[in-house]
Amino acid sequence: MGSRGREIVGMDVEDLLGLLRKAYADEWFAYYQYWVGAKVAKGPMKDAIIAELVQHAADELRHAEMLTTRIIQLGGAPVTKPEDWYKLSNCGYDAPDDPFVQTLLDQNIKAEQCAISVYRSLMDLTETKDPVTYNIVLQILEDEVEHEEDLQALLEDLQLMARVGGP
Ligand SMILES: [Fe+2]
Ligand SMILES: [Fe+2]
Repeated sequence: MGSRGREIVGMDVEDLLGLLRKAYADEWFAYYQYWVGAKVAKGPMKDAIIAELVQHAADELRHAEMLTTRIIQLGGAPVTKPEDWYKLSNCGYDAPDDPFVQTLLDQNIKAEQCAISVYRSLMDLTETKDPVTYNIVLQILEDEVEHEEDLQALLEDLQLMARVGGP
């Protein structure tokens, strides 16, 4: 823990740590939902969709790293037990039990939209209080906004493809 770095945070550091730990749990769920979704995906445009899911999984894991680095910097305890992910998560975990690509896209779009709301509110909270966390949260939000758009573009192509093949 950097003591001066912690002192300059203009808000309750324990409250902030609680929120960062919650977002961290979301990132592991997002990572795993993409990772395992990419393994099971079936249906039209499978290759393009799997490539996107794999890339997003890597981004979510990177977000988890960014958050835990910040948690430790602030003197907080990292989340050490996967069982705590369920207790902490804002957005939850949607198991890809139906491997159909459209279902996977719908589930992951929902998760991205939840993540966007979480990071938006973390930005509002830290904007004038903690520029370091604000900068991290902004970088993550930029990725989540891109993720949502990537998935919605794939879903749109999938729906157009169904139209070409339809009556
Ligand atoms: Fe993320
Ligand atoms: Fe994402």
